[in-house]
Amino acid sequence: MPKVVVVGSLNMDLIVRAPRRPATGETVMGDDFRILPGGKGLNQAVAAARQGAATAMIGRVGDDDFGRRFLAFLDSEGIDRSGVRTTPDCATGVGIVTLAGGDNAIIVAPGANMRLTPDEAANLPLAAGDVCVGQFEVPLAATEAAFRRARDAGAVTILNAAPAQALPGALLEVVDILVVNEIELATLSGAPISQSSGAAEITAAARGLLRGDRLVIATLGARGAMAVSREGLHEVTGHVVPVIDTTGAGDCFVGAFAAALAGGCDRLSALARANAAASLSVQRPGAAPAMPTAAELHEGLSRTH
Ligand code: RIB
Repeated sequence: MPKVVVVGSLNMDLIVRAPRRPATGETVMGDDFRILPGGKGLNQAVAAARQGAATAMIGRVGDDDFGRRFLAFLDSEGIDRSGVRTTPDCATGVGIVTLAGGDNAIIVAPGANMRLTPDEAANLPLAAGDVCVGQFEVPLAATEAAFRRARDAGAVTILNAAPAQALPGALLEVVDILVVNEIELATLSGAPISQSSGAAEITAAARGLLRGDRLVIATLGARGAMAVSREGLHEVTGHVVPVIDTTGAGDCFVGAFAAALAGGCDRLSALARANAAASLSVQRPGAAPAMPTAAELHEGLSRTH
């Protein structure tokens, strides 16, 4: 069965919940603090593995307690970590997450993530039908090397262009499926897209990023997602659920989507599964620990049909 290979970041998330965020120079008392595994790459790998996909992670951790905790966590999730190297004299990446008013704001200190080299990504054990997933929290050169290798092997490449930054043309060239939120779509397209943009504006901006058979997916939080390809537009509406923590919801979408493709789903069924999986993840605290299992997704989907 095809596998999912995630080339990406591992950040230990230091999460504080507070009634509101402080203004510059102000101190606000929070009411809950947790340390949980995260990082966009790791979250996506966990989301894929919990959906039953054979999953491998390629990345770097530091030679410290957080790094060792990640290695044990990857083992406990059944994720192949032979491509995760421990980097001496370097801290494991961390995400400083503030939760306020049902939403999150994050600062990442990438540490070891930025030591990933193109060489480590250039020889991935990929085969036709596998799915290779990347994001922007490791060096772009490593992601590009992985995607070139994936293309040579006949694997599908999915780029989650997060966090938002300009995308070099050479990397975009080797992307089969591009997943962006509103901010990332605005950054890549140059269009003034925001959370209040309508379907027509989002579709027009996404169309500008199409090449050949590429699929561009805009994830729109509670509004659901829109997928644009040369065949046209396909929309999935968001599920109305009680939200506990939105951290990693986009990562859940990407990982579940990749797992569905690896499992043989077509792109539109994968979209529906990913949308439903993300709506389950926001109902639990944390990023990686909140990813739903295949059984939970099955139950969630049967409740909504
Ligand atoms: O997408 C959520 C993730 O972004 C967090 O887990 C944090 O570590 C940052 O990478």
